[in-house]
Amino acid sequence: MIEEATLTGVLPPVRHWPALDLTGTEFDPVLAELMAEGPVTRVQLPHGEGWAWLVTRYDDVRRVVNDPRFSREAVVGRQVTRLAPHFIPDRGAVGFLDPPHHTRLRSSVAAAFTAKGGERVRAKARRMLDELVDDLLRAGPPADLTAAVLGPFPIAVICELMGVPARDRHGMHVWTQLILSAAHGKEVSETAKREMSAYFADLIGLRENSSGEDVTSLLGAAVGRGEVTLEEAVGLAVLLQIGGEAVTSNSGQMFYLLLTRPELVRRLRAEPEIRPRAIDELLRYLPHRNAVGLCRIAVEDVEIAGVRVRAGDAVYVSYLAANRDPDVFPDPETVDFARSPNPHVAFGFGPHYCPGGMLARLEEELLMDALLDRVPGLRLAVAPDQVPFRKGALIRGPESLPVTW
Ligand code: HEM
Repeated sequence: MIEEATLTGVLPPVRHWPALDLTGTEFDPVLAELMAEGPVTRVQLPHGEGWAWLVTRYDDVRRVVNDPRFSREAVVGRQVTRLAPHFIPDRGAVGFLDPPHHTRLRSSVAAAFTAKGGERVRAKARRMLDELVDDLLRAGPPADLTAAVLGPFPIAVICELMGVPARDRHGMHVWTQLILSAAHGKEVSETAKREMSAYFADLIGLRENSSGEDVTSLLGAAVGRGEVTLEEAVGLAVLLQIGGEAVTSNSGQMFYLLLTRPELVRRLRAEPEIRPRAIDELLRYLPHRNAVGLCRIAVEDVEIAGVRVRAGDAVYVSYLAANRDPDVFPDPETVDFARSPNPHVAFGFGPHYCPGGMLARLEEELLMDALLDRVPGLRLAVAPDQVPFRKGALIRGPESLPVTW
């Protein structure tokens, strides 16, 4: 319908996409409607100006994010319709660069985010997690799983990978929360970001001749070789540090889902060998974020699924929608641990795909092993609808996860 409408010059209607405070793992009903309406629709989000295209089908999503005619650099300086109340696109930040500069910056830290880089921190991560679970068991039930484990564990791991000393973990967490939170206003967020940036500028500056394998050493060495500027290195370090905490929300949703679906937990306990595959299926299924993230701007006229997008138009893709595309994932609403193949795009696709994907998988595997094997009777301590979920957040997840065993 949209294709016909667009070809006859009539644009599809602009749909208002409000910020919804969704709970549990409920799929956004507005996104479901948009997906049903057509492969390419038009949306207006709560903040910013005007409207943007929304692309939801798996193949179209992958095509758009891999097509250099859709630029992130071109977003800087524009007030595109968006979910986030305030928008601080730093020129040169990894999210707002296009290849080849984007490739150059990402390459400087790539070694830390490969499987080998993950193995470097695995044993230490397992030890840190075991200590948190020891404390949980020692204190006894009930407990808030987020405060006890799902919060502190990803912070400890990302600090380890970054080369941030243990004594600075708490400060990093406070800055991260202030940067991400809209509640305290733009000024507070910007101050926290300046402070975290100053911290990383010092750390990276000290490591300019380093041969270390942590991220700040890799960045220091790249600055020392003149491959990236200190400003670029600091911007990337801040985003990686903040991104590290995404695992708290994602694993919070994951354990919420598992603890409300005992049949899934029974299988994961009985067949531990399926856990890595099950984690990928959960990553596909969980609605990691609200609405959509960063848009791209068409730098020339492009046709997507028969719709003519004009140069200068803003385009969003939805990875959540792509992960429910029935042409790629039969019966997409079902959590199917045997799903194979499972080429989900929970970590994105194309040049901006998430650098933390390997780390997030590793942490979720360790969490699943530790919590299912060491806390046998683990269950929710309250009714599922009593679990508080974060409101007004970009990334979805429980505020706390009351459990007992
Ligand atoms: C980008 C998902 C964990 C750091 C992204 C993107 C997605 C995503 C969908 C956007 C891709 C795009 O723009 O097209 C997730 C999920 C996570 C997770 C579901 C947890 C389960 C992490 C972790 C880190 C991280 C642990 C840090 C180590 C980043 C950064 C970007 C990004 C820096 C921007 C990359 C770029 O623009 O080049 N992530 N992420 N994320 N993520 Fe993650």
